[in-house]
Amino acid sequence: MDHFLYRDGCLCAEDVPIERIAAAAGTPVYVYSTATLERHYRVFTAAFRGLDAQVCYAVKANGNLAVVATLAGLGAGADVVSLGELEIALAAGVPAARIVFSGVGKSEAEMAAALKAGILQINVESEPELRQLSRVATSLGVVAPAALRINPDVDALTHEKISTGRKENKFGIEWTAAHRVFGEAAQLANIRLAGIAVHIGSQLTRIEPFLAAFRRLRDLVVMLRTDGHTITTLDLGGGLGVPYGDQSLPELPSPDAYAAAVRHTVGDLGCRLILEPGRLLVANAGILVTRVLYVKEGATRTFVIVDAGMNDLLRPALYDAYHAIVPLIEPAPDGEQCEMDVVGPVCETSDTFGIGRLLPPVAAGDGLALRTAGAYGAAMASSYNARPLPAEVLVNGDRFAIVSARPSLAEMMARQRLPDWLANAMPPAPAEVGP
Ligand code: LLP
Repeated sequence: MDHFLYRDGCLCAEDVPIERIAAAAGTPVYVYSTATLERHYRVFTAAFRGLDAQVCYAVKANGNLAVVATLAGLGAGADVVSLGELEIALAAGVPAARIVFSGVGKSEAEMAAALKAGILQINVESEPELRQLSRVATSLGVVAPAALRINPDVDALTHEKISTGRKENKFGIEWTAAHRVFGEAAQLANIRLAGIAVHIGSQLTRIEPFLAAFRRLRDLVVMLRTDGHTITTLDLGGGLGVPYGDQSLPELPSPDAYAAAVRHTVGDLGCRLILEPGRLLVANAGILVTRVLYVKEGATRTFVIVDAGMNDLLRPALYDAYHAIVPLIEPAPDGEQCEMDVVGPVCETSDTFGIGRLLPPVAAGDGLALRTAGAYGAAMASSYNARPLPAEVLVNGDRFAIVSARPSLAEMMARQRLPDWLANAMPPAPAEVGP
């Protein structure tokens, strides 16, 4: 359920017609809905009622400051994986005591910043990393609160590029080695290892892999406690999938079904639970709005060339991901529909948002929305083909604001430098081009 609906024939975000936003912010532009963010957060947290569970939103899904601040205002903590994300979480008002730091390759500087900020927990993924954390904590004179991310060797049954819990994946420490690592941690200075973390992948469409991973976690807790180790927190990662509008997929497990799996497996261990949903909170709370540049009749297909490209939304190119595409003007229920390939302007064949999509006839200037783009959309955008990053807008009721401005070409150019040996050989600068 989201708040992008047609009203009086026009697609709206809450109470604001998308065309108004496109006119104000230009296209391509991501549009986020506050009401949808709030709804998803509430539905997810309600499912865990009665459990000692802290939601730490995975900032990587959407690191827009206003989005993170909206979730922080609802009580969300943050799961961060870089100095940049730590900065965003703190600036968005997430209390340090609700921030966990994940990631397979944390630098010394990142560890130091996390420790200085006083965050809740650092999830360690290897023995060298554990030793490094001990050194950094010792040099700062603090004790590092740590959890061990284990690799449970469970197949998440998702796209292979976003599967993280099998033994051939780079993530975590093989679960059979947890015992050894806890023993080592007890010998290391300034480390308090009292948690286990697991994250087996993203966009999971079945509950069974979660059950298998959480059962493994449970067995480990029992074993480690028997050996005298203290385990107070379990970080269950994220991963619950969302519907992308692809009718060929089976129905997804609900947050309630996911919470039931948690209760059933690890609910009685007396541990504080940390949950790291990303996609589930933000995916359906965002759309990418684009305009048709041209309609081209190819030899065998009709191409709708839009002004958004794979640099703005990489998921279809990288994971063959499906995103529903809808016109900003509501089509008549029994109106004509044609098969079209919706493609971007980037010079790659993978710059394709949809093949053989059924859409009403479209013309240059028409607006389209790619739905379910709030997660891993803007967050993975790039400037490929020297295209500016897309703008981002947050809607709240009848208000909207640009919450990330599209960089100007001048700003993009200002990052670049010529070395002396080229600068001195340059002809005088030509007049500026473009808007
Ligand atoms: N926790 C950890 C340690 C993670 O690595 C991730 C996602 C999450 C939580 C959040 O997972 P979620 O609830 O969003 O599934 N770019 C890909 C997704 C990559 C996910 C990476 N890790 C995509 O667009 O599908």
